[in-house]
Amino acid sequence: MPAISRYAIRAALVHLALGVTIGALLLANKALPFAPWIWSLLPAHIHMLLIGWTVQLAFGVAFWILPRLSAEGDRGSPVLSWLIVAGLNGGVTLAVLADLLRLLGSIALPGPLELAAFVCYGGVSLACARHFWPRLAAITLPSS
Ligand code: HEM
Repeated sequence: MPAISRYAIRAALVHLALGVTIGALLLANKALPFAPWIWSLLPAHIHMLLIGWTVQLAFGVAFWILPRLSAEGDRGSPVLSWLIVAGLNGGVTLAVLADLLRLLGSIALPGPLELAAFVCYGGVSLACARHFWPRLAAITLPSS
């Protein structure tokens, strides 16, 4: 398994562990409201589990298994792929930071941080299209 996939899948597992922990605390707070402030971490739960876990796991596995671009096993530009991993984890970190700052009472910072997180996700989407398109185009379907 290439290093980029190993790092992406390990990072995805960290997001899964943290995201599910917040989810469990949210669920427990529904039964017994011991810490109502936990609800301000719901966006962090969503960013971690939708982007940090689900999207990043899909990227890590797709990077590993999709057809190579050459017989030597070329998977395309490693720089672009590392930028995708950095953009995914950077975006989630910015969104979680925005949540924590909002929890600590900050007014000015959370908005721009969330915007920066979505700019990261937009950049990642374009980079994924640029990286995966030639590899998907390399898939040859059996002729009927
Ligand atoms: C990949 C797994 C998961 C994803 C993608 C996910 C995503 C989400 C999303 C998008 C929401 C907002 C739903 C809404 O506003 O209607 C949500 C809410 C919530 N999630 Fe998760 N979640 C996941 C796993 C979990 C787990 C494992 C737990 C508990 C252990 C959990 C506990 C909660 C709770 C308590 C809420 C709040 C529901 C409410 O508003 O009443 N989630 N989650």
